[in-house]
Amino acid sequence: MTQTLTILGLESSCDDTAAAVVRQTGDTPAEVLSSVVFGQTELHSAYGGVVPEIAARAHAEKLDICVIEALKEAGVTPKDLDAVAVTAGPGLIGGVMSGVMCAKGIAAATGLPLIGVNHLAGHALTPRLTDGIAFPYLMLLVSGGHCQYLIVRGPEDFTRLGGTIDDAPGEAFDKTARLLGLPQPGGPSVQAEAENGDPKRFRFPRPLLDRPDCNLSFSGLKTALMRMRDQIVAEKGGLTRQDRADLCAGFQAAVVDTLAEKTRRALRLYLDENPACPTVAVAGGVAANTAIRAALLDVCAEAGATFTAPPLRLCTDNAAMIAYAGLERFRSGARDGLDLTARPRWPLDQSSPALLGSGKKGAKA
Ligand code: KG4
Ligand code: ZN
Repeated sequence: MTQTLTILGLESSCDDTAAAVVRQTGDTPAEVLSSVVFGQTELHSAYGGVVPEIAARAHAEKLDICVIEALKEAGVTPKDLDAVAVTAGPGLIGGVMSGVMCAKGIAAATGLPLIGVNHLAGHALTPRLTDGIAFPYLMLLVSGGHCQYLIVRGPEDFTRLGGTIDDAPGEAFDKTARLLGLPQPGGPSVQAEAENGDPKRFRFPRPLLDRPDCNLSFSGLKTALMRMRDQIVAEKGGLTRQDRADLCAGFQAAVVDTLAEKTRRALRLYLDENPACPTVAVAGGVAANTAIRAALLDVCAEAGATFTAPPLRLCTDNAAMIAYAGLERFRSGARDGLDLTARPRWPLDQSSPALLGSGKKGAKA
């Protein structure tokens, strides 16, 4: 029988309050009926980072408005829903709790089943929502708080091949922007500056390329950038527009080269095991970077693999990915009770050892 499922999703793990409705009939393509996102960038801009208490309060204030809007935009009422899915971690615990409490309230009031979703699973399953790709595939998740290579075999079956041992690439872009006095979020502003810069003028390190594994490190790039910036300031008394563009271009080239080479290695490992499914997908805010996308596309072409990148609005944090991941869990029979708990840490691959420092600095996933 072809079952139609309509799922409400809630997301509040970092600085975006979001609600969405996703529908799927059998194995036909899933449809995003609505996806409402209230960003909090302005609330945190004076502090140079996300302030957890401010974020949690703003989520609590905005979640019900978001839900009402998402239902209205989708043209559905709670009676049309099959379940409510919510990010239950990982993330800033106050924000995750706001979402979980809101979802529990909806479930208790309507009798709808409750489905807890891992935020990272939401990102990792997005290419199935947007492009309907089949399991298994290799996923590179690159965001402000995470960077990892995952073999995705099922809605709850992930193997991590490697990841960052310190900063995530988005975090490195954001810190670079801060060091150069560019606006936040740093990714788009550094990319824009890099377009007018010479990537060869400053030589940034390519961390961990001397090691054969798929782990990455980005914190050294920020230190290198700070040294170069300070040296120019000491010599010339300040940075010119061109200095800034060249620093951005050098930094971005180092991130691109590192991600390209580590992706080449991860893809080799993945293809050894799954030669019949040569599919690579990318997700997370950093996937918006055109230089990174182009490099990944080249790596996939070299290896004869297909490359998929969801549209930007579904690469960055949103609730459609949570509703969809919830839909996949629901279909496989999973249900959570009102005792569902919010989890600050929640690795997708519980069997892989924790990576040194990974996810420590940013709950942003
Ligand atoms: O996935 P996302 O919206 O939030 C989480 O981290 O969960 O990603 C945000 C991150 C920020 O660090 C931002 O600077 C980065 O993605 N980003 C970019 C670009 N656009 C956004 N990084 C590099 N290049 C971009 N064009
Ligand atoms: Zn995220």
